[in-house]
Amino acid sequence: MTVELTPEIKKIQETVVGMYSEHPWPSHRDADEEMGWRLKCLGVRPEHYQGKNVLELGCGTGEYALWYAMKGAAHVTGVDLSDGSLALARQRKKEAGLDHAEFIKMDILNCDLPDNHFDYSYSVGVLHHTGDPLRGFKHLVRVTKPGGVVIVSLYNSYSRRILRCKQTFCKWVGGDDLDKRVACGERFFGGTMRKLDKRYHGVNTKQIAYDIFGFPHESLHSASEVMGWFDRTGVEYIGAFAPLRIRDYFYAFQQPEYARFRATFEGFPVMRAVSDLMTKLARRLGPKEGSVPPFPRPGELSMFMSQAMWIAFGLRFNCFTMAGIKRR
Ligand SMILES: C[S@@+](CC[C@H](N)C(=O)[O-])C[C@H]1O[C@@H](n2cnc3c(N)ncnc32)[C@H](O)[C@@H]1O
Repeated sequence: MTVELTPEIKKIQETVVGMYSEHPWPSHRDADEEMGWRLKCLGVRPEHYQGKNVLELGCGTGEYALWYAMKGAAHVTGVDLSDGSLALARQRKKEAGLDHAEFIKMDILNCDLPDNHFDYSYSVGVLHHTGDPLRGFKHLVRVTKPGGVVIVSLYNSYSRRILRCKQTFCKWVGGDDLDKRVACGERFFGGTMRKLDKRYHGVNTKQIAYDIFGFPHESLHSASEVMGWFDRTGVEYIGAFAPLRIRDYFYAFQQPEYARFRATFEGFPVMRAVSDLMTKLARRLGPKEGSVPPFPRPGELSMFMSQAMWIAFGLRFNCFTMAGIKRR
């Protein structure tokens, strides 16, 4: 059933989708570099998506959706509202000959996909742009089968704060003109741009500038808030990225997939050094009891401490991800 959007949300949607149509995100990304380690930390195993029906709400240019299609998903559906992004996703799918992936134009706040249909559903970096993230999340859970995996990734209210100050300045300078905001970001916050440019290996500089400084609308969220969404919608927590309990970091840094992920710390030398040190420590100390997936639900203090730590990681972990299983 379609529910009429409020004028405020309609306006948000028009500006957000308009921007991503003109400046599709990410346009280029090596998904393989980050997925292995991230999924391990989320408590997700290949059997959760291999041979399964997978959904991405807000697929952008389709890098993640096509990754799952390449890694053995039976069928992958990507949903987005931006024509520019969908065109790139479809072109890539065709080039890669991945006929079991499809990209559909649809509003995720009025998602009319069937109930209990997908085995594995996720939304990465999208709901915070919609003006009503919980409504989008409820659709994500609704369309997932009981026993299926649900993953959501959102801007974090702790680690994105510093960037938010820079964005506020750009918004003040550029007003509603997104090109002016981006020009301001490039001019005054070149260091931020350079870091992210290195992290994405220099392949989508302009798209980064729009994603970071164009930002027509974005909301910030905490792990505790998302845990509340899980409780309201019947989703049982299985893991987070970055981890939400200190001891889960020991598990994370023992995983061989970290070696590949390490390339995404390009531009973040301090963080890379700390992570390398953690790898050595974790190997020496060994896994702690109870620190293997599915990870136990973190308490409020653990969540607070992990997120406080992400402030130091800043930009590199300004988006956090939580995974769960929809209860049967
Ligand atoms: C930052 S991009 C994320 C793309 C992709 N998930 C990724 O991380 O590679 C955000 C995407 O959300 C889409 N989007 C925003 N609001 C939407 C809505 N209400 N319905 C469908 N897509 C939406 C935008 O068009 C854009 O492609």
